[in-house]
Amino acid sequence: MPTIPRLPSSEITPESAWLDRRRFLAAAGVAGAGLLGAGALGRLAAAPQPQRPLGTPYGLQPGDEPTSYEDVTTYNNFYEFGTSKDDPAVEAQGFRTRPWTVRVDGLCAKPGNYQLEDFLKPSRIEDRIYRMRCVEAWSMVIPWRGIPLADVVARAQPTSQAKFVELTTLLDPQRMPGQRYDVLDWPYVEGLRLDEAKHPLTLLATGVYGRDLPPQNGAPLRLVIPWKYGFKGVKSIVRIRFVERMPRTTWAAAIPSEYGFYANVNPQVDHPRWSQATERRIGNFRRIPTLPFNGYADQVASMYAGMDLRRNY
Ligand code: MTE
Repeated sequence: MPTIPRLPSSEITPESAWLDRRRFLAAAGVAGAGLLGAGALGRLAAAPQPQRPLGTPYGLQPGDEPTSYEDVTTYNNFYEFGTSKDDPAVEAQGFRTRPWTVRVDGLCAKPGNYQLEDFLKPSRIEDRIYRMRCVEAWSMVIPWRGIPLADVVARAQPTSQAKFVELTTLLDPQRMPGQRYDVLDWPYVEGLRLDEAKHPLTLLATGVYGRDLPPQNGAPLRLVIPWKYGFKGVKSIVRIRFVERMPRTTWAAAIPSEYGFYANVNPQVDHPRWSQATERRIGNFRRIPTLPFNGYADQVASMYAGMDLRRNY
């Protein structure tokens, strides 16, 4: 993964502020934003505006604002659709996500193949705003929509032998052109310890900004774990398997000296090629300090009590 991400070319205002600004301009009888200078726009954007509800905020810090919908959906990592940040939004257009089957299997009492709708139906869909930190030292604040992975675990009834959950992306080089190249060992696989999978913050996301996920963000189903680096968030999941041993996960297997299984956000453990002490917030160009467990330490640190987090990166 590249050391220095490119600056986004996109709109730098959160979508909520943008909608409110358009509403304000309409109310003020202004035909188009182009009529106003940047200074006037800046003043309008800074005025207190009602926010439409995007979801329940979890662990947000002072100054955290939702990243614009445009940045969330055009600045992506999804190597199945290309290795540049702007590839997935283009190359994943038209990716078919229905019908979609999710297989739940491995060490559990209730394995099964589910159509996506049946898989989701028993769960309550929630909207939650999380801070997200990529291993490449940039970050976003994203209003996700999804179900707790804990629900799926409870329904599957893992046996006492099950210690980990392995989640796998679709393998289909016809539909995922990046899989025709050997950049990674396909399909993309990620994993969690069972207690991490059952943690109430761990989501299986189906949407973003109150809409279905666009393909570039991992439609129709992807993992979201806010205290870990973004690469744990495996996209377009077709299989959830309960296993006894730590799964062989894609990035940890590709470059074990740089990417570990745990991948907990840790400002004190640098990546071998760059510091993890700070991050660049996409959209506003600010560099901010990175927080232990990405700001979720109170909720998750106890799961790692007694572990050497320098070795278990
Ligand atoms: N899942 C698959 N299948 N393929 C990928 O290349 N990239 C990961 C993760 N999930 C990736 C993936 C990385 S490195 C990041 S940072 C996040 O997806 C990015 O998610 P986003 O594009 O929705 O922000």
